Amino acid sequence: MEIRSDFLVIGSGIAGLSFALKAAQTGTVSIITKRSIRESATFYAQGGIASVSSKEDTFEAHIKDTLYAGAGLCHKDIVEVVVKDAPARIQELIQLGVKFSSRSTGADVELDLGKEGGHSKRRIVHAEDLTGRAVEEALVAAIESNRNIKVFENHIAVDLISHSKFVENTGEEIIWGAYALNKDTGEVYTFLSKATILATGGAGKVYLFTSNPDIATGDGIAMSYRAGAEIANMEFIQFHPTCLYHSKAKSFLISEALRGEGGLLKLKDGTTFMKGHHPMADLAPRDIVARAIDFELKKSGDDCVYLDISFKPSKFIKERFPNIYGKCLEFGIDITEAPIPVVPAAHYTCGGVLTNKDGLSSLSRLYVIGETACTGLHGANRLASNSLLESLVIAERASIHARDVVRRTSGPIPAIPEWETRGAVVSDEAVVISQNWDEIRRFMWNYVGIVRSDKRLERAQRRISLLKEEINEYYWDFKITNNLIELRNISTVAELIIKSASLRKESRGLHYNIDYPEKDDVNFMKDTVLKLGVEPA
Ligand code: FAD
Ligand code: SIN
Repeated sequence: MEIRSDFLVIGSGIAGLSFALKAAQTGTVSIITKRSIRESATFYAQGGIASVSSKEDTFEAHIKDTLYAGAGLCHKDIVEVVVKDAPARIQELIQLGVKFSSRSTGADVELDLGKEGGHSKRRIVHAEDLTGRAVEEALVAAIESNRNIKVFENHIAVDLISHSKFVENTGEEIIWGAYALNKDTGEVYTFLSKATILATGGAGKVYLFTSNPDIATGDGIAMSYRAGAEIANMEFIQFHPTCLYHSKAKSFLISEALRGEGGLLKLKDGTTFMKGHHPMADLAPRDIVARAIDFELKKSGDDCVYLDISFKPSKFIKERFPNIYGKCLEFGIDITEAPIPVVPAAHYTCGGVLTNKDGLSSLSRLYVIGETACTGLHGANRLASNSLLESLVIAERASIHARDVVRRTSGPIPAIPEWETRGAVVSDEAVVISQNWDEIRRFMWNYVGIVRSDKRLERAQRRISLLKEEINEYYWDFKITNNLIELRNISTVAELIIKSASLRKESRGLHYNIDYPEKDDVNFMKDTVLKLGVEPA
C-alpha cells in the first residue's frame, strides 16, 4: 500500500506533534508512531521546560548556564536562538491549554518556577512533576481535531526512502518518505512525502539501566545513518543521577527538581557527599553528579545512594511532587518520611543526526527534530530541561522551512518501488533477538557507561562487530518484526557510540575516559561527526 502526504512525521512526542500542528496549516500530514500516540519520552518528562520567565532572570544567564554545562562544545548561535525563543513557545503551549503550575503573588498570578542542576536561577516552567504528560495531552487533543492530519499508530518506520537507492544516483541525496511496518497486519507500507520529519526520540534502551521508555531505541539515528546522513557527538550519553533503585521499578525517574527544592544526596550512613565534588554541590551539572555517585558507589561497594527530601513539610512534598510521592509509595517508600534509594541510569542522547538551526539534516528534504537531532545546543552535556525546549523551538523553525520547501516543490514525487521481502520467512528463533538485545545492553553499560577506558572500548568494539554481522544475516533471512527492527537499530547506535567514544581521546562533559582524564582543547574542541562509508577526520 502507498500513502502520500505533503509531510511525513515519524514520531509522536513533543517534537513530532508540535511540527505536525504547524505543517497542517498549509498541507497534509501523516504521522506514524510505533505504539500508541502518547507513548513517548515526552509523556514521562517530569521536571519541566527551561525558559527565562522572571524579572530576576536574563537570557544571558540561561545562555551562560547552557554553555557551561556543554563544556565547550555548544554552538553558541543555536544556544542563543533556543533560549531567546523559549518564552514565545511557552505562551503557545499555554494557549493550547497546558496548565502549568502557578502561584499568586498578591493580585497577580505568575508561573511557579522550579530549579534544577546547572541552572543559576529558578526558570523551570512545570506542571507539578507531570510536565510531559500535560504537554503531550494538549498536543494530542489538538492533533485529533485537525482534519489535515492522519495518525497511523502501531506503525514502525523501517528505513528512509532515498533517491539514490530507489530512483537513481544523481549525487545529491533526497529523502522521499519511509517504509513502515504495520504491526497489526505485518504489511510494509510505502509512505511518500515532499518533506520527511524524523522525531523518533533518543536511544536510552542501548543501555541496561535507563530512565527511558521502551520506544527509545535510536531508530531515527540508525535509519538516517544508513541513508547517508551525518551523525554527530554520539559519545555524549547523559546519565541521569537519580533513578529509583528498587527491584520492581523498571525505569522510574526521581526528578532533579527534588534537589532543586532542597533534596540532598546521601550515603547509606546519612552523610552528604556532593560538596566534596563540586561547588554547586547537589545542583552541579548532571555529568558531575552522576560521576560523583558512580565514584561513591565504587568506593563503598553499596548498590545505591539516597536522595532525601523528608525534612521538608509533608504537605509541600505531596503537592509539589504528587507523581513521585505516589509512585514511591507504591514501592513502599514514603518520601515524606524516608530517603529514596537512587542510582544513575542512561537518560538522554546528546548526539544524533546533525542538523542546522532549521532542523535540516545533511540530506535534502529530511528534517530531524527533538532528541534524535544534534543541533549543537547541548554540546558535551545537556542542561536540565533544555530538551523539551529545544524540541519546541526547532519544530517551529523546521515547520517554517519545510513548508516553504513543500510550497516550492513543482514536480511529483518520483515512482518508488514497493518493499521487497526477498523470500524472507517467519523466524522460529525469537531467542536470537532477545539474547542479542541483552548482550548489547549489558556490555554497553559495563564498557561504554559513565566511566570508559581504551581497553573497555576495544572490548565493546569487538563484541558489536560480531553481533552486527549476526544480526544483519538474521535481518535479511527472516520477515521483519518490531523487535528485529529495533535490535538492528540498537546495534547500529551502539556501534556509533563506541566509535565516537573511541575517537575522543580526552575527557569532556559526559565522556569520561580514565586513560585521558583531562580536557584537550587543542585537539578535541570539536564535534565528532560520522558518516557511513567515510573515514572520520
Ligand atoms: P519522544 O518524546 O521520545 O517521542 C519519540 C516518538 O517516536 C514516540 O512516539 C515513539 O513511539 C516514536 N518512534 C520511535 N521510533 C519510531 C519508529 N521507528 N517508527 C515510528 N515511530 C517511532 N526533558 C526536559 O527538557 N525536561 C524534563 O523534565 C524531562 N524529563 C524527562 C523524564 C524522563 C523520565 C525522560 C525519559 C526524559 C525526560 N526529558 C526531559 C527528556 C525529554 O523528555 C525528551 O528528550 C523529549 O521528550 C524527546 O522528545 P521527542 O519528541 O524528541 O521524542
Ligand atoms: C528531571 O526532571 O530531572 C529531568 C529533567 C531533564 O531531563 O531535563
